[in-house]
Amino acid sequence: MQKQLQINTERLDDVIRDDDRLKIMPEVEKAHRKLKDQKEGNGGSLGWMNPEKIISNGTLDDIEKTAKRLMSISDVVIIVGIGGSYLGAKAVIDAVAPKEGKGKVVFAGYNIAGDYISELFNFLEGKDISINVVSKSGTTTEPAIAFRVIEDILKKKYGADNIADRIICTTDKKSGALRTIAEEKGYKSFVIPADIGGRFSVLTPVGLFPAACAGVDIKELIAGALNQKERSDKSSLEENPSYIYAALRNILYTKGKKIEILSNFDHRLHYMSEWWKQLFGESEGKAFHSIFPASCDFSTDLHSMGQLIQEGERNLFETFLIVEKEEKHIVIPGSDNNLDNLDYLVGKEMSYVNRKAYEATSEAHYEGGVPNSTIFMPERSAFYLGELFYFFELAVSVSAYISGVNPFDQPGVEAYKLKMFKFLGRPG
Ligand code: PA5
Repeated sequence: MQKQLQINTERLDDVIRDDDRLKIMPEVEKAHRKLKDQKEGNGGSLGWMNPEKIISNGTLDDIEKTAKRLMSISDVVIIVGIGGSYLGAKAVIDAVAPKEGKGKVVFAGYNIAGDYISELFNFLEGKDISINVVSKSGTTTEPAIAFRVIEDILKKKYGADNIADRIICTTDKKSGALRTIAEEKGYKSFVIPADIGGRFSVLTPVGLFPAACAGVDIKELIAGALNQKERSDKSSLEENPSYIYAALRNILYTKGKKIEILSNFDHRLHYMSEWWKQLFGESEGKAFHSIFPASCDFSTDLHSMGQLIQEGERNLFETFLIVEKEEKHIVIPGSDNNLDNLDYLVGKEMSYVNRKAYEATSEAHYEGGVPNSTIFMPERSAFYLGELFYFFELAVSVSAYISGVNPFDQPGVEAYKLKMFKFLGRPG
């Protein structure tokens, strides 16, 4: 049988009782029905539930072909985007792209610090560059500014008439300024399906094109998502892994556990956590009632946030994201004099020590009053990342419906934008 993500919830058992589980089941059922009705109706924002579409409509092949062409004329491609138009691609590339591919993709437009762009330009000096600008609305200020600045650099470098084959736009099919720019200037474009919101769009050209540029096997990402989808469709409500996770975190919330920490023991998953924070924060943070999604990279954060997790306010629960099999086998060597007292570990692999660090942390946090569960990924590979994306997307949809909010909008994000436009003196 194909290996797949596993979730272990034993260290929640003494906080969550059987009657808590029984009590939440009608809510899970209601959320499930809501998703089902939406899917059978006009589909609404549920396009991410059909990752197979991207294969059947030929987009996947187009993405691979275009990435190959772009990389054949570029040393580096700059991905311009923010939020859901950036984090998924960054998560995939950091986690599973080959080393040589990672250096070929850089990001801009996710901040407006002029010094960042200036440093980026220094790095790009003398290199052949291309751009993939990503914006579903096509009107987001941060990437729009970065695109204008970088397009200008391209014009100066190659001449205004010679840049069209170096610019790829990923945006809505019909609306927004970026669509107009692509049409008017003849830039190649990819479509973000109307029924897939930004933070759910990693398995569309938004995440897949940058990933393909970095040499990630994007077919494997989709295969993983499809495997997880099939598993979710086949399981009963009580056994559906996404529903279990969604239900348990909502029960924990009602018991005063208002902050969830997603903790990894592999820094290459740092941006997976950043993607997860956006997915849960923007989907659930509504109606003044929500779990705060936080994240830690261990061992680093054990030596900083570890103190607070162990002995700070007991309003936390933790979800570990653990990769079961490491690729490289680094063995701890012997020494002449054992001055560091590490001889008891001679011959052991670093992955063994890392695993024990996870087991020890999980137990210490649990005994210190932080209930925790673990999602085990068999390997750090594109396939299992695909599974993880689908797992969390389904989980957040059900979780938000359980807590009574719409997972697919983000009205709160407008407040800062309106203020910023006012402070900038934007006309109109
Ligand atoms: O999830 C979302 O919808 C947002 O985080 C968007 O992805 C983000 O605001 C960027 O929007 P756009 O792709 O329209 O530039």
